[in-house]
Amino acid sequence: MSSIRNIVVLTGAGVSAESGIDTFRTEGGLWERYKPEDVATPEAFARDPDLVLAFYDMRRAAIQEKQPNAAHFALGRLDAEWPGELLIVTQNIDDLHERGGAKRMLHMHGQHLNAWCGACDVRSPWTGLLADRPPCPACGTRALRPDVVWFGEMPYRMDEIHAALRKADLFVSIGTSGAVYPAAGFVRGARDLGARTLELNLEPSQGSRWFHECRHGPATEVVAAWVEEMLAPER
Ligand code: APR
Repeated sequence: MSSIRNIVVLTGAGVSAESGIDTFRTEGGLWERYKPEDVATPEAFARDPDLVLAFYDMRRAAIQEKQPNAAHFALGRLDAEWPGELLIVTQNIDDLHERGGAKRMLHMHGQHLNAWCGACDVRSPWTGLLADRPPCPACGTRALRPDVVWFGEMPYRMDEIHAALRKADLFVSIGTSGAVYPAAGFVRGARDLGARTLELNLEPSQGSRWFHECRHGPATEVVAAWVEEMLAPER
């Protein structure tokens, strides 16, 4: 591992599954119970804002009852102890990475603990409900929406992500199905730029074939073991 200095980690819903947070596409996932086009697109919000706001109110409340798991804490330890560069890019809107100790990270699909004002564009910390149309803390207008990137919207901070991928010696994908772009394309980009690529997932994903190495198992086990390995003194 000595040649590895700069690491990019991509995480998806699977890293939070053992904390009791719904995934999307695995057995019993959110997209088995809701259609994305009904709750996770700008058109859905324009058509039926009550349904969309209630969906995210439900998720925001559920996430606040959950706790980080061993995979979040392992990544928090990696963040604290890894001497090289590290960027954790999460597709998740929960704050379990932060509560697990991660600092060098970003949310490319937004965050459930923010509300975004459609009138003044300000994003405010938010733990309550939006379905009752509360006033924006910044401008008072009742035009708040979840600060979540919906299908058809541009993920956040892509420039930073691509800059980190260009410098990466190692790209690790954790708990994501490889079903949604641009995140699903990061592995090929990193690989084309010379990075080693590793998948840590419960089962093979749609992108497994692009990884040099795949380790399958629950994130609380495979991520913790991988961080141990990365932080072990040079053998
Ligand atoms: N440990 C590791 N991996 C797991 C675990 C676990 N305990 N449980 C499930 N997984 C894996 C599944 O095998 C699956 O490959 O996590 C992945 C979850 O895939 P999805 O449910 O599709 O979630 P994700 O890949 O994060 O979805 C990407 O799609 O709907 C949009 O914006 C949403 O960010 C989300 C994006």
